[in-house]
Amino acid sequence: MENISFEKRDNVAILKISRPKFLNALNSETLRELEMAIDDIQKDKDIYALVITGEGNKAFVAGADIKEMSNMSVFEAREFSILGNRVFRKIEGLEIPTIAAVNGYALGGGCELSLCCDIRIASENAKFGQPEVTLGITPGFGGTQRLARIIGTSRAKELIFTGRMIDAKEAEKIGLVNKVVPQESLMDEVMDLANSIAKNAPLAVRMCKVAINRGIDVDIETGIQYEAEIFAHCFSTEDQKDAMAAFLEKRKIDKFKN
Ligand code: HXC
Repeated sequence: MENISFEKRDNVAILKISRPKFLNALNSETLRELEMAIDDIQKDKDIYALVITGEGNKAFVAGADIKEMSNMSVFEAREFSILGNRVFRKIEGLEIPTIAAVNGYALGGGCELSLCCDIRIASENAKFGQPEVTLGITPGFGGTQRLARIIGTSRAKELIFTGRMIDAKEAEKIGLVNKVVPQESLMDEVMDLANSIAKNAPLAVRMCKVAINRGIDVDIETGIQYEAEIFAHCFSTEDQKDAMAAFLEKRKIDKFKN
């Protein structure tokens, strides 16, 4: 792959968008590579958490590739949006937890990429924004939908209507990022978080994510019934038996299996 690098550290995978000359802007080729990487991750049962970040210390992803978009026909623009949405839905639909390590500009499609991750950790120099209206377009990789769901419609509308860039502190204040850390410790902090997730019972963690994601789109009664099902399902796993026995016997469990 030309524009994506992939690495596995124990049970955590790290995907890096790597077009630093263009501040990691997403062109069609990069989106297709990202899709292939996500498909591989989805099949790998030894990956318990995924970290997505950008190459270098300036940008996470500065948006969709403006050069490529500048000459698109209506048909091509629709195809481009469909491609990005398909890839981002795959990221959102991964059962393993995903963390965006936002190491700089996260604008337009870059902000949208961070939005389809479960958790966003930003470095102090990170900047977020949906500047599409300044280019005569709308967000096209899910920004109008996910930003509103994460920070509320009123704040999302303000950011999308103005195209204003916000710094990491403001992003934390409005609930767009979970935590802001110094740039030099970003990856250590994110890996600590990913490892603290990956050390828990992997099937239980996956089921929690699916339950939260499904629950958002259904009424509370349906969501709670689903939770009762996954809760019961855990009692068919070795992990539940081992972990509860270990607690009662006052010993630590080595490693989860399921
Ligand atoms: C293509 C980009 C790019 C982008 C930066 N570059 N962002 N190329 N697409 N989104 C390129 C620049 O052209 C430049 O290339 C190089 O990266 C370095 O960028 P500079 O502008 O020189 O850096 P700087 O002055 O530090 O400014 C950083 C910046 C600015 C504030 C992030 O680059 C910027 O405003 N970028 C565009 C951000 C944006 O509008 N994103 C939203 C795009 S629309 P050269 O060759 O000149 O060195 C979008 C829609 C998503 O994302 C939905 C699609 C369906």
